[in-house]
Amino acid sequence: MRKPIIAGNWKMNNTIAETKALVKDLIPLVKDAKCDVVICTPYTDLAAAVEATQGTNIKVGAENVHWAEKGAFTGEISAKMLVELGVEYVIIGHSERRQYFGETDETVNARMKAALAAGLKPIVCVGETLEERESGKTEEVVTRQTVAAFKDIDKDELDNIVIAYEPVWAIGTGKTATAEDANDTIKVIRDTMAKLYCPKCAEDRVRIQYGGSMNPKNASELMAMPEIDGGLIGGASLKAEDFSKVVNF
Ligand code: 13P
Repeated sequence: MRKPIIAGNWKMNNTIAETKALVKDLIPLVKDAKCDVVICTPYTDLAAAVEATQGTNIKVGAENVHWAEKGAFTGEISAKMLVELGVEYVIIGHSERRQYFGETDETVNARMKAALAAGLKPIVCVGETLEERESGKTEEVVTRQTVAAFKDIDKDELDNIVIAYEPVWAIGTGKTATAEDANDTIKVIRDTMAKLYCPKCAEDRVRIQYGGSMNPKNASELMAMPEIDGGLIGGASLKAEDFSKVVNF
């Protein structure tokens, strides 16, 4: 069966000192977790996060990666740089990148390929905006984003990729999709993966998280849904106690 995976997305929060303190608090609270536990931190915190989590069950991820191996891309970070730091996961195509930093379906796919080629595990985000939801386009949008993200990605890589379904209107708003709605849309994504690869691959090997105001109060209800394999947690990942409660759903 699919092992649940709970990941924190710190976004642009925490200095190195704050990272060390948060990880120190988190370690004992999540040590018996039955799911995979990941913290995705700003680039500047990664080395400290890797060092502080050494020998624990907490894995470290970045929040983005460039698609080129190297070159004249001022301000960007390559997959190889992340791997050398000891980073294992990387968030790709977060809606904040799509909204504010010009991320497209094509660049998401390019980043996926670069990450996988270097041995990183992508957490690739899909999700509709409020406008798209209200005009009945949710299924169309998540299907388009999923198909584009996985273009030319080999079936062998499926165990190394996590999909995060994050309805944009639920991010940082305190509004959560109902567990049923989240489950239904994740089913649409899984069916898309079944068509792209094979039904058994989608069923056994594709882990799909929910993200968007997931917190200690709603985590157990969301995690009880059959299609939901984990969570990508923003705000609630910034406090050790809250994040651990989600992890120990
Ligand atoms: P919140 O949990 O703060 O809504 O953020 C969700 C998110 O964007 C995780 O990537």
